[in-house]
Amino acid sequence: MILIIDFGSQVTQLIARRIRELSVYCEIVPWDKDILKTKSLSEAKAIVLSGGPDSTRIKKSPTVSKRIFDLNIPILGICYGHQLICKLLGGKISKSEKREFGKTLIRKNSKNQSPLLEDLFKKNIEEVWMSHGDAVTELPAGFVELASSDTSSFSIIEDAARRVFGVQFHPEVFHTVNGKKFLENFVKIANIERNWTPFKITESLIEKLKNEIGDEKVICGLSGGVDSTVTALLLNRAIKKNLTCIFVDNGLLRKQEADQIEFLFKKHFKIKLKTVNAKNLFLQNLKGVSDPEKKRKIIGKLFINVFEREAKKLKNVSFLAQGTLYPDVIESTSVHGKSAATIKSHHNVGGLPKRMNLKLVEPLKTLFKDEVRKIGSELKLDKTLLDRHPFPGPGLAIRCPGEITAKKLSLLREADNIFVEQLKKHKLYNKVWQALVILLPVKSVGVMGDARTHEYSCVLRAVSSTDGMTADFSYFKREFLSETSNKIINEVKGINRVLFDITSKPPGTIEWE
Ligand code: XMP
Repeated sequence: MILIIDFGSQVTQLIARRIRELSVYCEIVPWDKDILKTKSLSEAKAIVLSGGPDSTRIKKSPTVSKRIFDLNIPILGICYGHQLICKLLGGKISKSEKREFGKTLIRKNSKNQSPLLEDLFKKNIEEVWMSHGDAVTELPAGFVELASSDTSSFSIIEDAARRVFGVQFHPEVFHTVNGKKFLENFVKIANIERNWTPFKITESLIEKLKNEIGDEKVICGLSGGVDSTVTALLLNRAIKKNLTCIFVDNGLLRKQEADQIEFLFKKHFKIKLKTVNAKNLFLQNLKGVSDPEKKRKIIGKLFINVFEREAKKLKNVSFLAQGTLYPDVIESTSVHGKSAATIKSHHNVGGLPKRMNLKLVEPLKTLFKDEVRKIGSELKLDKTLLDRHPFPGPGLAIRCPGEITAKKLSLLREADNIFVEQLKKHKLYNKVWQALVILLPVKSVGVMGDARTHEYSCVLRAVSSTDGMTADFSYFKREFLSETSNKIINEVKGINRVLFDITSKPPGTIEWE
């Protein structure tokens, strides 16, 4: 396996993801853990040092023991990690005169046949993604430069004898055109077998769950989405008799959600399922609340209250399982609990109350959506469910800016259902990553059948993405938009205007709240 030492970059998990896409197992450890003592280090066949927001020029900036260079395994430094290697081994780092941000061309300028560059630089250049304010200005002894950009030297460096490499750019991000090839070459250098497949990931998650839970009882919160369903199926394989799934019908769900879940779990998978009708509880507590963070916190707390109450009824339940994914975590706090700006308190992470009587078990916490889908497929989950668009824990509440009422939720539910059915009918559903409707708290004047209307407006939003961390708005043909808009206005009494959202993420987020 490959050990990734995390220096706090927002995209460290992408390094892990790319490496796992190469069917190689990897683990992330935060830089301030005593790395030399971790079990992972003794199993590591290579190390990657991630990027990070700090400057190596500052005293007490994040670092790692120099002894990693004595382990005789390949090391790759990325951005901050690249600079750290140079600093630790005697090179020099300075503040760049010109910062490099975004798309950058780098040129190969060495005759060196480095294995890191195998099948790359076919036309002598590569398009990479940079994001740095400091730069290496003097190499440590033993290193040579392999490539540079117009602005900076030492974009790629190597110490071939020690198999230590540094890249100033980010090979893990999608914008580095051949980023994955750089990582693949590094995996080859480390001579690691590429056998980390969905089957193995699934088996290992099940094994971990067995060890973590032992003979204790677990309840698993279901939302109808892929993540909680896959979590439940993993638990079912790991600890079947001690698992009870709880589905909270909170009134914030999509059309017919409750029926589908009952069918899938009770009839299809034959897993113990309890449905709790909590529609009134949620609506009452959300009455008069329009602040998005308050809504999220209230919903998070209510979920836990219901789970704790149900756990009490079942007696001796120790764990609450949730389908939390990595993107749910990174925007609330970083995966290792360090600083990353809070964008939203996702209901199953930051939205949880501080004191809880149940321990959390979150087997998917370091995985991305597409990995979860592969695991779901391994667990024989039906394709229509696997390909279902993501749906947020706080449900329709965060698609209904302003105060939530039963009436608004019902309009939103109908409009959402029409949009989804339209996408399916036009074979567009699987072409977008997520599609949603937002009900605006704005009424506008319209005219229908010669009469004046004064009704709500809704927004259609659809995005393409790979993991929800960044997203592009999708665009549809006029005919599709017009048919959908007409259908909503004709069939949903209470909506008389439909808008289309053309905001990507960033700067927007996918959900409106
Ligand atoms: P944003 O709106 O943050 O959404 O761009 C990114 C993805 O995450 C989903 N989402 C959530 N999922 N609990 C969840 O389980 C939440 O609180 C939550 N908030 C957003 C959102 O639907 C999108 O797929």
